[in-house]
Amino acid sequence: MAATVKSLSDAMALRLYKEITMHNPDFRGTTVEIYGSKGSAKTTLMLKIASRIVCTYDFTNWQKEPVIWRGRTVDMWTWYPGKVRVFVHADDDPYFTTESGEELKVRVIKYEDIRDVLNNLNEFNVVYEPTTYQLGDNLKEMIARRAAISMRQLNDIDVDSTVWWFETIYEVLKRKDNRFISLFFDEADELFPENPSGLRWHLQAWLKDSVKDLRKRNISMYYSAHSHTDVDSRIRTKMQYRILMKGARVPNNSLINKRLPLFLDVGEAIIERDGFGKFRFDKLRRKEVVVVHFS
Ligand SMILES: Nc1ncnc2c1ncn2[C@@H]1O[C@H](COP(=O)(O)OP(=O)(O)OP(=O)(O)O)[C@@H](O)[C@H]1O
Ligand SMILES: [Mg+2]
Repeated sequence: MAATVKSLSDAMALRLYKEITMHNPDFRGTTVEIYGSKGSAKTTLMLKIASRIVCTYDFTNWQKEPVIWRGRTVDMWTWYPGKVRVFVHADDDPYFTTESGEELKVRVIKYEDIRDVLNNLNEFNVVYEPTTYQLGDNLKEMIARRAAISMRQLNDIDVDSTVWWFETIYEVLKRKDNRFISLFFDEADELFPENPSGLRWHLQAWLKDSVKDLRKRNISMYYSAHSHTDVDSRIRTKMQYRILMKGARVPNNSLINKRLPLFLDVGEAIIERDGFGKFRFDKLRRKEVVVVHFS
């Protein structure tokens, strides 16, 4: 008989939840995909996970792990239960408001490139990608190699500024230190859409090949989307852990009964890896949602 929501193993959920929030040198980084319908509390859970992640380098001392949260135009990072550091690109001068247009005072730190951010990380770091972005030489070289074209052909093309995140991932992979760092991408279909074309096709193919290297380099990645079908299947099939929330469609390679997510309440989730279990979480204290304006 297929498992019902009630019979799911809470002990399994606890083990898996611990694995994605307590990083150590044996397990290294963890990669997690999160799906749920609109309003199923995906962003809330992402913020909760972000606030819980700890790491150890010697299995004795545990410390809070730095989190990088991709800032979106309309975002809920203001709900994070702790101190927030906000980074914007040196050429950008944004202002922040609530959804109803009242000004929000946000102290920002400017960066020239991702290395400035990496050198200045606090616990929870919101990073807004630059509003205009030119491909860096490292990405040009990588794409030229993969697409068998010359680097010159990539010189004057317009790229979407979300591509900056691929450069970021490239940089964290080749940084010298081995610090644990977690990357959070809410609404990941903006970064890794299903059916990309042109340049993005190659970038996403590269990311697919790099997911396991991220983990080895102590980098964790968490992303959310409404449905797994919104995200590049080449990338999502490389993720280790899956969390399904209310109304999520169940991917074909999952052990979970297709109808289970329909019976979940907001604040409940199923976590899956080599087994699966259900867990609950509380809501966060409601704050203003933050809107960024780049004039
Ligand atoms: N554990 C919970 N119990 C009850 N309500 C909750 C819980 N967690 C979050 N909520 C509430 O549910 C609403 C939706 O939460 P949230 O914005 O995190 O969902 P979402 O899946 O990210 O939504 P969207 O798809 O619109 O981005 C919010 O008002 C939030 O406070
Ligand atoms: Mg959300």
